[in-house]
Amino acid sequence: MGCGATTSQPRRFELRPSLSTVPLLPFRRRPAMQDWPGLIEGYRKWLPVSSKTPVITLREGATPLIPAPTIAERIGRGVKVYLKYDGLNPTGSFKDRGMTMAISKAKEAGSEAVICASTGNTSAAAAAYARRGGMRAFVLIPDGYVAQGKLAQALLYGAEVLAVKGNFDRALAIVREVADQYPVTLVNSLNPYRLQGQKTAAFEVVDALGEAPDWLCIPVGNAGNISAYWMGFNEYKAAGHSRKLPRMMGFQAAGSAPLVLGHTVEQPDTIATAIRIGNPVNKENALKARAESNGDFMAVTDAEIIEAYKLLGAGEGVFCEPASAASVAGLIKRREEVPADSTVVCVLTGNGLKDPTTAIEHNDSKFHTGLDPVTATVAQVMGF
Ligand code: F0G
Repeated sequence: MGCGATTSQPRRFELRPSLSTVPLLPFRRRPAMQDWPGLIEGYRKWLPVSSKTPVITLREGATPLIPAPTIAERIGRGVKVYLKYDGLNPTGSFKDRGMTMAISKAKEAGSEAVICASTGNTSAAAAAYARRGGMRAFVLIPDGYVAQGKLAQALLYGAEVLAVKGNFDRALAIVREVADQYPVTLVNSLNPYRLQGQKTAAFEVVDALGEAPDWLCIPVGNAGNISAYWMGFNEYKAAGHSRKLPRMMGFQAAGSAPLVLGHTVEQPDTIATAIRIGNPVNKENALKARAESNGDFMAVTDAEIIEAYKLLGAGEGVFCEPASAASVAGLIKRREEVPADSTVVCVLTGNGLKDPTTAIEHNDSKFHTGLDPVTATVAQVMGF
Protein backbone atom coordinates (compact mmCIF):
# COMPACT_ATOMS: atom_id res chain seq x y z
CA MET A 1 0.00 0.00 0.00
CA GLY A 2 1.24 3.48 -0.83
CA CYS A 3 2.30 5.71 1.99
CA GLY A 4 -0.30 8.35 1.30
CA ALA A 5 -3.19 5.89 1.07
CA THR A 6 -5.67 7.39 3.44
CA THR A 7 -8.90 6.74 1.63
CA SER A 8 -8.98 2.93 1.32
CA GLN A 9 -11.25 0.91 3.58
CA PRO A 10 -9.91 -0.19 6.96
CA ARG A 11 -8.95 -3.82 6.96
CA ARG A 12 -10.18 -5.95 9.82
CA PHE A 13 -7.66 -8.16 11.53
CA GLU A 14 -8.82 -11.23 13.42
CA LEU A 15 -6.84 -12.07 16.54
CA ARG A 16 -7.18 -15.46 18.14
CA PRO A 17 -9.33 -14.88 21.26
CA SER A 18 -6.61 -16.33 23.46
CA LEU A 19 -4.29 -13.60 22.27
CA SER A 20 -6.53 -10.83 23.37
CA THR A 21 -8.65 -10.22 26.40
CA VAL A 22 -9.90 -6.96 25.00
CA PRO A 23 -12.49 -6.41 22.28
CA LEU A 24 -11.17 -6.97 18.79
CA LEU A 25 -10.20 -3.71 17.23
CA PRO A 26 -10.69 -3.17 13.53
CA PHE A 27 -7.87 -1.00 12.31
CA ARG A 28 -6.55 0.47 9.15
CA ARG A 29 -3.67 -1.35 7.67
CA ARG A 30 -0.70 0.96 7.80
CA PRO A 31 2.55 0.85 5.97
CA ALA A 32 5.28 -0.69 8.08
CA MET A 33 6.39 1.80 10.72
CA GLN A 34 9.67 2.59 9.01
CA ASP A 35 7.73 3.58 5.91
CA TRP A 36 5.36 5.98 7.64
CA PRO A 37 6.29 9.29 6.04
CA GLY A 38 5.03 11.63 8.75
CA LEU A 39 1.62 13.21 8.90
CA ILE A 40 1.97 15.83 6.15
CA GLU A 41 2.62 13.15 3.55
CA GLY A 42 0.31 10.67 5.27
CA TYR A 43 -2.65 13.07 5.24
CA ARG A 44 -1.53 15.48 2.52
CA LYS A 45 -4.89 15.95 0.85
CA TRP A 46 -6.42 17.12 4.14
CA LEU A 47 -3.78 19.75 4.83
CA PRO A 48 -3.05 23.23 3.44
CA VAL A 49 0.26 22.30 1.79
CA SER A 50 1.36 22.38 -1.83
CA SER A 51 4.26 21.10 -3.89
CA LYS A 52 6.08 24.29 -2.86
CA THR A 53 5.90 23.51 0.85
CA PRO A 54 9.21 22.18 2.21
CA VAL A 55 8.12 19.29 4.44
CA ILE A 56 9.97 19.44 7.73
CA THR A 57 9.18 16.19 9.48
CA LEU A 58 10.47 13.83 12.15
CA ARG A 59 7.91 11.22 11.01
CA GLU A 60 5.44 12.27 13.67
CA GLY A 61 1.93 10.80 13.93
CA ALA A 62 0.76 7.20 13.49
CA THR A 63 0.73 6.82 17.27
CA PRO A 64 -0.96 3.78 18.82
CA LEU A 65 -4.49 3.51 20.12
CA ILE A 66 -3.98 1.26 23.12
CA PRO A 67 -6.82 -0.72 24.76
CA ALA A 68 -7.10 0.06 28.49
CA PRO A 69 -8.76 -2.95 30.14
CA THR A 70 -7.96 -1.92 33.72
CA ILE A 71 -9.61 1.45 33.27
CA ALA A 72 -12.51 -0.12 31.34
CA GLU A 73 -13.08 -2.40 34.32
CA ARG A 74 -13.41 0.66 36.56
CA ILE A 75 -16.02 2.10 34.25
CA GLY A 76 -17.87 -1.21 33.85
CA ARG A 77 -21.07 -1.87 31.86
CA GLY A 78 -19.23 -3.08 28.78
CA VAL A 79 -17.62 0.30 28.03
CA LYS A 80 -14.51 0.00 25.86
CA VAL A 81 -11.67 2.37 26.67
CA TYR A 82 -8.71 3.23 24.44
CA LEU A 83 -5.74 5.49 25.00
CA LYS A 84 -4.52 7.64 22.12
CA TYR A 85 -0.91 7.67 23.20
CA ASP A 86 0.52 10.77 21.58
CA GLY A 87 3.45 10.65 23.97
CA LEU A 88 5.06 8.41 21.34
CA ASN A 89 5.62 11.27 18.93
CA PRO A 90 9.27 12.19 18.18
CA THR A 91 9.59 14.85 20.87
CA GLY A 92 7.20 13.01 23.17
CA SER A 93 3.97 14.99 22.79
CA PHE A 94 1.10 15.79 20.45
CA LYS A 95 2.72 19.15 19.74
CA ASP A 96 4.77 17.53 16.97
CA ARG A 97 1.60 17.19 14.89
CA GLY A 98 1.07 20.92 14.90
CA MET A 99 4.72 21.80 14.68
CA THR A 100 5.52 19.86 11.50
CA MET A 101 2.84 22.00 9.83
CA ALA A 102 3.67 25.34 11.48
CA ILE A 103 7.39 25.04 10.83
CA SER A 104 7.00 23.77 7.26
CA LYS A 105 4.71 26.71 6.48
CA ALA A 106 7.05 29.17 8.22
CA LYS A 107 9.90 27.83 6.11
CA GLU A 108 7.79 28.09 2.98
CA ALA A 109 7.12 31.75 3.83
CA GLY A 110 10.85 32.39 4.16
CA SER A 111 10.90 32.82 7.92
CA GLU A 112 14.27 32.54 9.63
CA ALA A 113 13.13 32.42 13.25
CA VAL A 114 10.13 31.25 15.26
CA ILE A 115 8.90 32.09 18.74
CA CYS A 116 6.49 30.54 21.21
CA ALA A 117 5.41 30.72 24.82
CA SER A 118 5.19 27.33 26.43
CA THR A 119 4.57 25.25 29.50
CA GLY A 120 7.25 22.99 28.02
CA ASN A 121 6.02 20.71 25.29
CA THR A 122 5.46 23.36 22.65
CA SER A 123 8.96 24.67 23.32
CA ALA A 124 10.50 21.22 22.84
CA ALA A 125 8.61 20.63 19.59
CA ALA A 126 9.23 24.15 18.26
CA ALA A 127 12.93 23.83 18.97
CA ALA A 128 13.28 20.41 17.35
CA TYR A 129 11.40 21.25 14.16
CA ALA A 130 12.79 24.77 13.80
CA ARG A 131 16.37 23.59 14.12
CA ARG A 132 15.70 20.76 11.69
CA GLY A 133 14.43 23.40 9.30
CA GLY A 134 17.52 25.56 9.83
CA MET A 135 15.68 28.26 11.77
CA ARG A 136 16.23 29.89 15.13
CA ALA A 137 13.82 29.02 17.92
CA PHE A 138 13.04 31.45 20.73
CA VAL A 139 11.00 29.97 23.57
CA LEU A 140 9.52 31.78 26.55
CA ILE A 141 8.73 29.63 29.55
CA PRO A 142 7.34 30.37 33.02
CA ASP A 143 10.44 30.37 35.19
CA GLY A 144 10.45 27.35 37.52
CA TYR A 145 7.26 25.75 36.19
CA VAL A 146 8.48 23.59 33.34
CA ALA A 147 9.12 19.86 33.83
CA GLN A 148 12.77 18.83 33.68
CA GLY A 149 12.56 16.67 30.57
CA LYS A 150 10.97 19.44 28.54
CA LEU A 151 13.57 21.99 29.53
CA ALA A 152 16.31 19.49 28.74
CA GLN A 153 14.80 18.99 25.30
CA ALA A 154 14.50 22.68 24.43
CA LEU A 155 18.12 23.21 25.44
CA LEU A 156 19.46 20.17 23.65
CA TYR A 157 17.51 20.94 20.49
CA GLY A 158 19.25 24.29 20.40
CA ALA A 159 16.52 26.71 21.39
CA GLU A 160 17.18 30.11 22.87
CA VAL A 161 15.32 29.74 26.15
CA LEU A 162 13.93 32.80 27.92
CA ALA A 163 12.47 32.02 31.35
CA VAL A 164 10.17 34.83 32.48
CA LYS A 165 9.00 35.56 36.01
CA GLY A 166 5.34 35.11 35.19
CA ASN A 167 2.93 32.42 34.11
CA PHE A 168 2.21 31.01 30.66
CA ASP A 169 -0.53 33.53 29.93
CA ARG A 170 1.87 36.43 30.51
CA ALA A 171 4.57 34.77 28.38
CA LEU A 172 2.06 34.30 25.56
CA ALA A 173 1.05 37.97 25.68
CA ILE A 174 4.71 38.91 25.30
CA VAL A 175 5.44 36.60 22.37
CA ARG A 176 2.36 37.86 20.54
CA GLU A 177 3.73 41.40 20.80
CA VAL A 178 7.23 40.35 19.78
CA ALA A 179 5.91 38.46 16.75
CA ASP A 180 3.86 41.52 15.77
CA GLN A 181 6.85 43.82 15.92
CA TYR A 182 9.81 41.72 14.79
CA PRO A 183 10.59 39.23 12.01
CA VAL A 184 9.79 36.05 13.92
CA THR A 185 6.91 33.64 13.27
CA LEU A 186 4.58 32.82 16.14
CA VAL A 187 4.13 29.05 16.48
CA ASN A 188 1.71 28.88 19.39
CA SER A 189 -1.70 27.46 18.54
CA LEU A 190 -2.87 30.90 17.44
CA ASN A 191 -0.96 29.94 14.31
CA PRO A 192 -3.70 28.23 12.28
CA TYR A 193 -1.33 25.63 10.82
CA ARG A 194 -0.85 24.17 14.29
CA LEU A 195 -4.46 23.06 14.58
CA GLN A 196 -4.41 21.80 11.00
CA GLY A 197 -1.62 19.41 11.88
CA GLN A 198 -3.17 18.43 15.20
CA LYS A 199 -6.52 17.49 13.63
CA THR A 200 -4.80 14.43 12.13
CA ALA A 201 -4.98 12.77 15.54
CA ALA A 202 -8.76 12.57 15.11
CA PHE A 203 -8.24 11.01 11.66
CA GLU A 204 -6.01 8.36 13.20
CA VAL A 205 -8.56 7.56 15.90
CA VAL A 206 -11.29 7.03 13.28
CA ASP A 207 -8.90 5.09 11.02
CA ALA A 208 -8.07 2.78 13.93
CA LEU A 209 -11.61 2.23 15.21
CA GLY A 210 -13.38 2.28 11.85
CA GLU A 211 -15.77 4.82 13.43
CA ALA A 212 -15.60 7.81 15.73
CA PRO A 213 -15.74 7.01 19.47
CA ASP A 214 -18.81 7.91 21.53
CA TRP A 215 -16.77 10.05 23.92
CA LEU A 216 -13.44 11.76 23.49
CA CYS A 217 -11.84 12.63 26.83
CA ILE A 218 -9.07 15.19 26.52
CA PRO A 219 -7.02 17.46 28.80
CA VAL A 220 -7.56 21.16 28.11
CA GLY A 221 -5.04 23.94 28.67
CA ASN A 222 -4.84 26.58 25.97
CA ALA A 223 -7.72 24.68 24.28
CA GLY A 224 -6.04 24.19 20.91
CA ASN A 225 -6.07 20.41 20.90
CA ILE A 226 -9.75 19.97 21.69
CA SER A 227 -10.50 22.44 18.88
CA ALA A 228 -8.24 20.56 16.47
CA TYR A 229 -9.79 17.16 17.29
CA TRP A 230 -13.26 18.58 16.74
CA MET A 231 -12.22 19.94 13.34
CA GLY A 232 -10.71 16.57 12.41
CA PHE A 233 -13.76 14.54 13.44
CA ASN A 234 -16.03 16.87 11.48
CA GLU A 235 -13.92 16.79 8.35
CA TYR A 236 -13.70 13.00 8.41
CA LYS A 237 -17.43 12.61 8.94
CA ALA A 238 -18.21 15.04 6.11
CA ALA A 239 -16.03 12.88 3.85
CA GLY A 240 -17.87 9.72 4.86
CA HIS A 241 -15.14 8.15 7.02
CA SER A 242 -17.42 7.99 10.06
CA ARG A 243 -21.15 8.07 10.66
CA LYS A 244 -21.10 9.78 14.02
CA LEU A 245 -19.26 12.41 16.04
CA PRO A 246 -18.02 12.01 19.61
CA ARG A 247 -19.09 14.00 22.63
CA MET A 248 -16.10 16.21 23.40
CA MET A 249 -15.32 15.91 27.10
CA GLY A 250 -12.64 18.43 28.11
CA PHE A 251 -10.91 18.22 31.49
CA GLN A 252 -9.00 20.98 33.22
CA ALA A 253 -7.02 20.93 36.44
CA ALA A 254 -9.13 22.33 39.29
CA GLY A 255 -6.65 25.12 40.04
CA SER A 256 -6.51 26.14 36.36
CA ALA A 257 -10.03 25.71 35.09
CA PRO A 258 -11.12 28.93 33.34
CA LEU A 259 -13.43 27.11 30.92
CA VAL A 260 -15.22 25.35 33.75
CA LEU A 261 -15.49 28.50 35.87
CA GLY A 262 -16.39 30.73 32.93
CA HIS A 263 -13.73 33.32 33.71
CA THR A 264 -9.98 33.88 33.53
CA VAL A 265 -7.91 32.47 36.39
CA GLU A 266 -5.25 35.03 37.35
CA GLN A 267 -3.01 32.68 39.32
CA PRO A 268 -3.41 29.22 37.78
CA ASP A 269 -2.02 26.40 39.87
CA THR A 270 -1.73 22.61 39.43
CA ILE A 271 0.77 19.78 39.63
CA ALA A 272 0.03 19.26 35.92
CA THR A 273 2.25 22.17 34.82
CA ALA A 274 1.53 21.52 31.12
CA ILE A 275 -2.02 22.78 31.62
CA ARG A 276 -1.26 25.49 34.18
CA ILE A 277 -3.08 28.10 32.07
CA GLY A 278 -5.62 30.69 33.20
CA ASN A 279 -6.70 32.34 29.94
CA PRO A 280 -6.91 29.91 27.00
CA VAL A 281 -6.50 31.59 23.62
CA ASN A 282 -8.59 29.00 21.79
CA LYS A 283 -11.49 29.46 24.18
CA GLU A 284 -14.07 30.31 21.51
CA ASN A 285 -13.27 27.23 19.41
CA ALA A 286 -13.39 25.02 22.47
CA LEU A 287 -16.77 26.41 23.55
CA LYS A 288 -18.03 25.75 20.03
CA ALA A 289 -16.78 22.15 20.18
CA ARG A 290 -18.55 21.67 23.49
CA ALA A 291 -21.83 23.13 22.24
CA GLU A 292 -21.87 21.35 18.89
CA SER A 293 -20.90 17.97 20.29
CA ASN A 294 -23.15 18.12 23.33
CA GLY A 295 -19.93 17.81 25.28
CA ASP A 296 -18.82 19.20 28.60
CA PHE A 297 -15.92 20.70 30.52
CA MET A 298 -15.11 19.63 34.01
CA ALA A 299 -12.37 20.15 36.56
CA VAL A 300 -10.35 17.33 38.09
CA THR A 301 -8.30 17.84 41.23
CA ASP A 302 -4.58 17.24 41.43
CA ALA A 303 -5.32 14.22 43.66
CA GLU A 304 -7.60 12.75 40.98
CA ILE A 305 -5.00 13.45 38.29
CA ILE A 306 -2.31 11.65 40.30
CA GLU A 307 -4.59 8.69 40.99
CA ALA A 308 -5.27 8.27 37.26
CA TYR A 309 -1.56 8.79 36.48
CA LYS A 310 -0.60 5.95 38.82
CA LEU A 311 -3.39 3.72 37.51
CA LEU A 312 -2.21 4.24 33.94
CA GLY A 313 1.33 3.35 34.92
CA ALA A 314 0.88 0.41 37.24
CA GLY A 315 -2.43 -0.86 35.82
CA GLU A 316 -1.92 -0.38 32.08
CA GLY A 317 1.85 -0.08 31.66
CA VAL A 318 1.42 3.34 30.08
CA PHE A 319 3.55 6.23 31.33
CA CYS A 320 2.08 9.62 30.54
CA GLU A 321 2.66 13.01 32.05
CA PRO A 322 0.31 14.33 34.74
CA ALA A 323 -1.59 16.70 32.41
CA SER A 324 -2.39 13.79 30.12
CA ALA A 325 -3.81 11.76 32.99
CA ALA A 326 -6.48 14.46 33.42
CA SER A 327 -8.39 12.80 30.54
CA VAL A 328 -8.55 9.49 32.41
CA ALA A 329 -9.23 11.18 35.74
CA GLY A 330 -12.15 12.91 34.06
CA LEU A 331 -13.51 9.70 32.57
CA ILE A 332 -13.39 8.02 35.96
CA LYS A 333 -15.16 11.00 37.51
CA ARG A 334 -17.94 10.92 34.91
CA ARG A 335 -18.15 7.12 34.67
CA GLU A 336 -21.82 6.88 35.66
CA GLU A 337 -22.79 8.90 32.61
CA VAL A 338 -20.94 6.86 30.00
CA PRO A 339 -23.51 4.87 28.00
CA ALA A 340 -23.29 1.08 28.38
CA ASP A 341 -21.25 -0.69 25.69
CA SER A 342 -19.97 2.59 24.27
CA THR A 343 -16.45 3.37 23.10
CA VAL A 344 -14.33 6.01 24.82
CA VAL A 345 -10.98 7.37 23.72
CA CYS A 346 -8.80 9.17 26.26
CA VAL A 347 -6.08 11.32 24.74
CA LEU A 348 -2.69 10.94 26.41
CA THR A 349 -0.98 14.07 25.16
CA GLY A 350 2.54 13.65 26.52
CA ASN A 351 5.11 11.05 27.54
CA GLY A 352 5.70 10.41 31.24
CA LEU A 353 9.46 10.72 30.80
CA LYS A 354 8.93 14.44 30.32
CA ASP A 355 8.40 14.82 34.05
CA PRO A 356 10.46 12.29 36.01
CA THR A 357 10.23 14.36 39.20
CA THR A 358 6.47 13.87 39.54
CA ALA A 359 6.78 10.13 38.88
CA ILE A 360 9.47 9.70 41.52
CA GLU A 361 7.46 11.69 44.06
CA HIS A 362 4.09 10.07 43.33
CA ASN A 363 4.00 6.32 43.05
CA ASP A 364 3.00 3.35 45.18
CA SER A 365 6.03 1.23 44.43
CA LYS A 366 8.61 -0.08 46.85
CA PHE A 367 12.04 1.45 46.47
CA HIS A 368 14.69 -0.09 48.72
CA THR A 369 17.93 1.85 48.73
CA GLY A 370 21.37 1.44 50.21
CA LEU A 371 21.26 -2.34 50.23
CA ASP A 372 24.36 -4.38 50.89
CA PRO A 373 25.39 -6.08 47.65
CA VAL A 374 24.74 -9.53 49.08
CA THR A 375 22.36 -12.19 47.72
CA ALA A 376 20.96 -13.01 51.15
CA THR A 377 20.11 -9.38 51.80
CA VAL A 378 18.36 -9.02 48.44
CA ALA A 379 16.42 -12.24 48.95
CA GLN A 380 15.38 -11.12 52.41
CA VAL A 381 14.16 -7.75 51.16
CA MET A 382 12.24 -9.63 48.45
CA GLY A 383 10.43 -11.45 51.23
CA PHE A 384 11.99 -14.89 50.87
N1 F0G B 1 -1.33 18.02 27.59
C1 F0G B 1 -0.05 18.38 27.49
C2 F0G B 1 0.99 17.36 27.82
C3 F0G B 1 0.31 19.68 27.08
O1 F0G B 1 1.57 20.01 26.99
C4 F0G B 1 -0.72 20.61 26.80
C5 F0G B 1 -0.40 21.98 26.40
C6 F0G B 1 -2.05 20.17 26.91
C7 F0G B 1 -2.32 18.88 27.31
C8 F0G B 1 -3.19 21.07 26.62
O2 F0G B 1 -3.36 21.27 25.25
O3 F0G B 1 -3.22 23.72 25.21
O4 F0G B 1 -4.08 22.44 23.26
O5 F0G B 1 -5.42 22.60 25.35
N2 F0G B 1 0.77 22.45 26.41
C9 F0G B 1 1.15 23.77 25.89
C10 F0G B 1 2.66 23.91 25.86
C11 F0G B 1 0.43 24.89 26.51
O6 F0G B 1 3.15 25.03 25.93
O7 F0G B 1 3.35 22.91 25.73
P1 F0G B 1 -4.06 22.58 24.73
